[in-house]
Amino acid sequence: ALQALCLPKLEPKQMSANPFQPRASTFKVAVLGAAGGIGQPLALLIKMSPLVSSLHLYDIANVKGVATDLSHCNTPSQVLDFTGPSEFSNCLKSVDLVVIPAGVPRKPGMTRDDLFNINANIVKTLVEAVADHCPDAFIHIISNPVNSTVPIAAEVLKQKGVYNPKKLFGVTTLDVVRANTFVAQKKNLKLIDVDVPVIGGHAGITILPLLSKTRPSVVFTDEEVQELTVRIQNAGTEVVDAKAGAGSATLSMAYAAARFVESSLRALDGDDDVYECSFVQSELTDLPFFSSRVKLGKKGVEAFISSDLEGLTEFEAKALDALKPELKASIDKGVSFAQKQA
Ligand code: NAI
Repeated sequence: ALQALCLPKLEPKQMSANPFQPRASTFKVAVLGAAGGIGQPLALLIKMSPLVSSLHLYDIANVKGVATDLSHCNTPSQVLDFTGPSEFSNCLKSVDLVVIPAGVPRKPGMTRDDLFNINANIVKTLVEAVADHCPDAFIHIISNPVNSTVPIAAEVLKQKGVYNPKKLFGVTTLDVVRANTFVAQKKNLKLIDVDVPVIGGHAGITILPLLSKTRPSVVFTDEEVQELTVRIQNAGTEVVDAKAGAGSATLSMAYAAARFVESSLRALDGDDDVYECSFVQSELTDLPFFSSRVKLGKKGVEAFISSDLEGLTEFEAKALDALKPELKASIDKGVSFAQKQA
């Protein structure tokens, strides 16, 4: 069922495959921060995956209830709960994929960077445990500011001597999900067909939807491009303001993260044309980390879709130039935090 939910970005070959075809549930997935606003619905969606054999839920509080509750769903995976550093080893041993939504969310008036001081330490501690107990796993970082937490994770993994850039991902899927939804609404398109690549980073102007590369091909007026770009960039704040102090996006984020997990598991399972946007170590630009569409395979990132960056419109090219200094500063901030802590 989850595969049907997650179909919009599939390439033609996969679209012809039967999404309901039973598949062996073979993968172990851990969610760190599983009792939170994102963690709980994300755990539920992962529990629905036919590819998961074991779902390990970790949090510093309230995780037992979440795991017990979910364990009653009659889907294949076993659900186990873990709490506290003494349980890291059992939680993470032989895990194929780790998702990290642990950390504080934004309140109205905050930027993602305002979360840096708290979340940087949380991500550092959790990634250290991942490095010690499951260094070969795919690592999905959701905790904000992603533009800095991914470089922190990379530094921690380097310090532990286990960094594999092909397996470290900043989760930017929500930007793509939002772009697809807003474009389909604006242009009256069938939602499942729409795919907008979103490049750059995951905060404000560093989020750059490439509307000119929308599939199916769509013509936008200059005003529409301006309006849609700004809405996609500020969509997180739209939710933060609507929740009025109760946090940021959790349900749409869980949906987006579940899609990225399912894509990664399909890639691990041998599907050979899985594409997603993600914030990863990259040579596509002069920045060390950059979000773009990547091809996922059993070993992680298999290829970068560089063609998305060719033939940009003047608007997109200018926006790309404008985002680079801000994204670079966020990356540098993460790197220097991790290096100072070493
Ligand atoms: P939340 O506060 O509802 O949940 C966070 C959970 O993390 C809590 O259960 C808390 O106990 C747990 N936690 C805190 N420290 C921990 C530690 N050291 N180890 C394990 N668990 C720990 O927050 P919410 O709404 O779930 O957001 C989580 C993060 O996701 C925030 O940083 C938020 O900014 C980010 N986010 C990222 C998005 C993206 O697109 N990448 C979109 C929306 C939110």
